[in-house]
Amino acid sequence: MKITVVGAGNVGATCANVIVQKELASEVVLLDIKEGISEGKAMDMMQTSATLQFDTRVIGSTNDYTKTAGSKVVVITSGIPRKPGMSREDLIGTNAGIVKGVAENILKYSPEAIIIVISNPMDTMTYLALKSLGVPKNRIIGMGGILDSSRFKYYLSQALGCAATDVQGVVIGGHGDKTMIPLTRFATYNGIPVSEILDKEAVEKVAAATMVGGATLTKLLGTSAWYAPGAACGALVEAIVGDQKKVYPCCVYLDGEYGQSDICMGVPVVIGKDGWEKVVDYKLNAEEQAKFNASAEAVRGMNSVLHDMKLI
Ligand code: 2OP
Repeated sequence: MKITVVGAGNVGATCANVIVQKELASEVVLLDIKEGISEGKAMDMMQTSATLQFDTRVIGSTNDYTKTAGSKVVVITSGIPRKPGMSREDLIGTNAGIVKGVAENILKYSPEAIIIVISNPMDTMTYLALKSLGVPKNRIIGMGGILDSSRFKYYLSQALGCAATDVQGVVIGGHGDKTMIPLTRFATYNGIPVSEILDKEAVEKVAAATMVGGATLTKLLGTSAWYAPGAACGALVEAIVGDQKKVYPCCVYLDGEYGQSDICMGVPVVIGKDGWEKVVDYKLNAEEQAKFNASAEAVRGMNSVLHDMKLI
């Protein structure tokens, strides 16, 4: 089984490396437009195989989509990452055309692929892929909520002074500094609501830190993060290829769920071999639903740029 990762930058290469080290496929194709970069990174990864004892082959490709043919899963990370001070939304002008071209090429050679979109602004890029490819909605998944939830659990664990693996938390909504919604009411420490352990102010601080989690890293690194996005992508790919039926918050096409339609946004979904299978309903209260609606409005505003750019 073959998995393709498009974009051999920090995020793409780390996604590929996680997939390879977990042996989630027999072959991983890493494709980039920059001459030699994907071949170099693929060779570097292959030179860890004897040490780390994995048998997945990694193949680099400079823009040759024939090598991606027959992929079961394709991860799109193409486009530019944000720089300090930029929002994910600032990237739309550059990334929208790139993502559309990549998605179309991918579909030509892997018509049955499940497509994971990571390029930013991710909710809008997922919507673009869905609208321009016209494939069944369950095969287009935006990866943001798993990452944001992982950052939420990290900040909760810091506040609680506990292991991040002992914390449960989910982030829904858009994958933007202002559009994501950490569901603090549902966050638990081994089943105990965190609101019973932390005061309101501490919980609010965690939520605020989560929302700008990516921006905090961008400021420190000078570019956007890659280890946590790579790990989150690996978990999603693992759930698909292993038909795990795990629930992850992912950006999917909504058709009335959570009160929204004709939009791709982050909600908890069951992930299996066919992509996302169904939306899990968290029964939001009025305040959470209002935040979700406001998030949808912001994402819709971004999506309208796709029309202005005549991409959909
Ligand atoms: C992030 O939040 C890359 O959007 C991604 O780090």
